[in-house]
Amino acid sequence: MKSFKHLWLLIIASSLCASCLCDDNPGRVLCIDDERVALLQFKHDLIDDANRLSSWSSSNIDCCTWDGIVCDNFTGHVQELHLRGPDPERDDASTQLLRGNINRSLLLLKQLKYLDLSCNDFGVTQIPSFIGSLRNLRYLNLSMSQFFGEVPHQLGNLSMLVVLDLGNGPWLSNVPMNSMHWLSSLRLLKFLDLSGYDLNSATDWFQVVSNLPSLVELHLPSSNLTQIPNQLSKVNFTSLTVLDLSYNIFDTMMPWWIFSLGKLVSLDLTRCLFHGPVPSRVGGFQNMTDLKVVHVSENDFMNSTSVLSGLLSVTSLVSLDISTCSISTPILGGLQNTTSLVSIDLSQNFINETLPNSVGNLCNLRHLDLRSNNFTGSVSKLLNNFCECNSPKLDYLAFSANSLLWGRIPDKIGQLGNLVTFDLAFNSISGTIPNSLGKLSSLKELMLNVNLISGTLPDTIGNLTSLEKLEISFNKLSGSLPKSFGKLRNLIYMSVHHNLLTGDVAEDHFANLTALTSIRAEANRLTLNLGVKSWTPPFKLDVLRLGSWNLGPQFPSWIRSQGNLTELDISNTGISDIMPSWFWSSYSDVIFLNISHNSIRGTLVEELSILAPNAVVDLSNNRFEGPLPGKFNDADFVLLDASYNHLSGSLEEFLCPRFERDRPLIFLDLANNNLSGVIPDCWMNWQALSVINFENNNFSGEIPQSAETLSSIQSFNIRKNNLSGKLPAFLLNSKSLEIIELAENKLTGSIPLLIDGEETKLKLLSLRSNMLAGEIPEEFCRLTSIQILDLAYNNLSGTLPTCFYNFSIISGRQPSNAFVLYDVLFQVQILGSALLVTKGREFEYRSILGLVTTLDLSSNKFSGPIPKELMGLAGLRWLNLSGNHLTGRIPEEIGKMTSLESLDLSLNQLEGKIPWSMSRLTTLNWLNLSSNKLTGEIPTSTQLPT
Ligand SMILES: *[C@@H]1O[C@H](CO)[C@@H](O)[C@H](O)[C@H]1NC(C)=O
Ligand SMILES: *[C@@H]1O[C@H](CO)[C@@H](O)[C@H](O)[C@H]1NC(C)=O
Ligand SMILES: *[C@@H]1O[C@H](CO)[C@@H](O)[C@H](O)[C@H]1NC(C)=O
Ligand SMILES: *[C@@H]1O[C@H](CO)[C@@H](O)[C@H](O)[C@H]1NC(C)=O
Ligand SMILES: *[C@@H]1O[C@H](CO)[C@@H](O)[C@H](O)[C@H]1NC(C)=O
Repeated sequence: MKSFKHLWLLIIASSLCASCLCDDNPGRVLCIDDERVALLQFKHDLIDDANRLSSWSSSNIDCCTWDGIVCDNFTGHVQELHLRGPDPERDDASTQLLRGNINRSLLLLKQLKYLDLSCNDFGVTQIPSFIGSLRNLRYLNLSMSQFFGEVPHQLGNLSMLVVLDLGNGPWLSNVPMNSMHWLSSLRLLKFLDLSGYDLNSATDWFQVVSNLPSLVELHLPSSNLTQIPNQLSKVNFTSLTVLDLSYNIFDTMMPWWIFSLGKLVSLDLTRCLFHGPVPSRVGGFQNMTDLKVVHVSENDFMNSTSVLSGLLSVTSLVSLDISTCSISTPILGGLQNTTSLVSIDLSQNFINETLPNSVGNLCNLRHLDLRSNNFTGSVSKLLNNFCECNSPKLDYLAFSANSLLWGRIPDKIGQLGNLVTFDLAFNSISGTIPNSLGKLSSLKELMLNVNLISGTLPDTIGNLTSLEKLEISFNKLSGSLPKSFGKLRNLIYMSVHHNLLTGDVAEDHFANLTALTSIRAEANRLTLNLGVKSWTPPFKLDVLRLGSWNLGPQFPSWIRSQGNLTELDISNTGISDIMPSWFWSSYSDVIFLNISHNSIRGTLVEELSILAPNAVVDLSNNRFEGPLPGKFNDADFVLLDASYNHLSGSLEEFLCPRFERDRPLIFLDLANNNLSGVIPDCWMNWQALSVINFENNNFSGEIPQSAETLSSIQSFNIRKNNLSGKLPAFLLNSKSLEIIELAENKLTGSIPLLIDGEETKLKLLSLRSNMLAGEIPEEFCRLTSIQILDLAYNNLSGTLPTCFYNFSIISGRQPSNAFVLYDVLFQVQILGSALLVTKGREFEYRSILGLVTTLDLSSNKFSGPIPKELMGLAGLRWLNLSGNHLTGRIPEEIGKMTSLESLDLSLNQLEGKIPWSMSRLTTLNWLNLSSNKLTGEIPTSTQLPT
């Protein structure tokens, strides 16, 4: 009967359109009139800018031959509509989209089984509910097509549906779906993708999907799911082969039922915030023998290694990603039987494991990421094993930031011809860079920075013509930069700084580097030796750092061509020249400028507005002269170092102009210039200031009252000026100050009392060589964090305080710590520094300042005995009480000062015997007890020189 009906239709169709019988498929019937008309109506409502539907035209009446249409050959009914848009990744994707409305005429396609409208742009409209009436649909794909709004529950009537894809990709579109009950009737559904819908309120989601009896693939990534049952050990959807619940916010225990999905092939639980424990009886992955893909990164399995148990016995694994899971247990060694593995990502865990060489035998591996773990051992053998694979497939190899990995790069490394990324940075790799590296013609990223690699850069490096990023800084590479460097035509980022490179660099070295935007080559001893005076480099750089090269004595004029610079470092490059006038006007975006340690002359003109906001500027150690100009202010720097120049005049113009907003300046160093006048009372606008250094200028007058408003100030250094007047109490009472350095001024009056209140952070207080008088107030002992206290060369009198025990660091109760004032602005770390006098000499301390503990009260008029409380300072390293009027004996308790290295009690009126306990001061290496009335022998001690 059925075949008869087909035959009948065939005869009718043939007689209607005889001209079509000559086509390729003479047995096929033509399309049905009503359906053709319906399709034309459907097309009419679409906007098709790219004319994708040009074949849909009334001039070709057989709609079965139109693009995207599939008909039944015997009935002529349209069965399939394939109108998927372009791959969204394609550059011209946006021009190829179908837009407009979806006409109800589709309903006339009574036999439609397959409808694919994905990857188009239906302009944030709702999915039309009439689609739920296309009862024959088996396949419905509306994904990535900008449908918005609630999904019509009528889709639940499509009881024949096998594939339902409404996914919006990983981007949660905020379209809430409040219930998934409508899906329960889709008993034949094998594939379901609702990615990007907000299923947060669909509390029935699990109940519904887990009871879809045919379900094979479930994709619910980025669905704002928070609820999932986790203690069920079995579920009903045991046919599942693909489960993707990534990017949801479960923040709960890893569900046990997942391990009962024995047919699972692919599991994606990336960033679900799952954690342990899973009881060991659940068995983990051990029975999932088909598993190929396990992506579970960004969960927290710290306490439940049982989650991962059984994984190592799954020999079918192809791709494993367990990065960022707080795992510390060894895992890599167990993977040696998994020869099918193509991709392993264990990065960003705490895996403490000796690197197993056997991993190098996984010859199918393309991607191996072990970054940021605690792997130990040598990489040499493992890498060598990879090189010995028959045809090594590796394209991504990253072992960086496992600081204890050592070994060498094998000579055969050139065998890994597919390598695109090679990252061994931040390890302890030694040896040299092998010649064969140049064979890696696919290599785009080479990261070997922060290792112990020595030897020269091989000439073959020029053969890496795909190379885009070269990062070999902080090694011990010596010799010259090979000329072949100039062949790296795809190089974008070059970082060779902090090595021992020497020799000449010329135009050739950069010949074809047209893609280069970043040169970081500072801290080498290279010399730029240009053949021509007016070189025009082939590149346009953002970053140029050549600090410590040899560029001078003339100012390098080619830098003028680099108008896009954001970072420029030509410090310490032997430039001895007048600052060219073009310099200040050639750039507008410089955020890091370091031209320090040259002999550049000139005045600081007002156009410093070449700088981008929040710039870091180091002009120190040059010969700039004249005043700091006022309009300098337009450039809002965060760091200005103009120390060691010949600047003169007052600060009025620089500090005082009023601005609407607070200035962002954090660090201001004008030390060692000839600046003079009073320090203007204009600090109100500079709330961000953390470090002020005016050391060694000619400032006079008093410390201005507005300095009290500097609420972030950490270091206040006006040493060696002509300041007079009193020491303001607000300095000692500051809650932020760590360093007060006012030595060598003419301050008078007494040390102000501290107002009762919180403890201060003060670590260093130097008032040395002023004219301060009076006693040290007892409140002084509230400076509990003090490490360095220097009150020498004043007129202070009275007895020594007895409360020194309050000083928690000097007394040895707390360790001393570093003077890091500001951390890492463009790799600039700002440390506190101090000029300290010990063993009769001045020393400047910077990086080890934090280790110093000193108490210097010498050359005052202190009288009375040395308090025995002072002897309790077990953390004190230098003590100087010389040149006072101290009397009595040296306390026997002096033996408790076990950190003491330098002790000076000379020029007092001490008497009696030198205590024997001093022989316990084994670290003492400088002692002066002269000009007292002491008797007896100096006790022997291992360190003391004669
Ligand atoms: C219908 O015809 C096309 C074109 O000749 C052919 O590729 C296809 O397999 C046929 N379909 C059926 C169901 O016979
Ligand atoms: C997820 O759901 C919560 C609770 O309904 C809601 O407040 C939040 O906005 C949703 N998140 C997103 C990204 O839609
Ligand atoms: C599994 O299916 C059975 C029978 O349909 C049902 O009673 C049970 O509730 C289902 N289990 C779950 C966890 O949904
Ligand atoms: C794994 O499979 C074995 C053999 O089929 C079975 O005995 C065992 O109970 C299963 N283990 C788990 C945890 O399901
Ligand atoms: C996980 O382990 C850590 C360290 O052993 C422990 O402090 C923490 O309480 C544990 N957390 C859970 C959720 O068990």
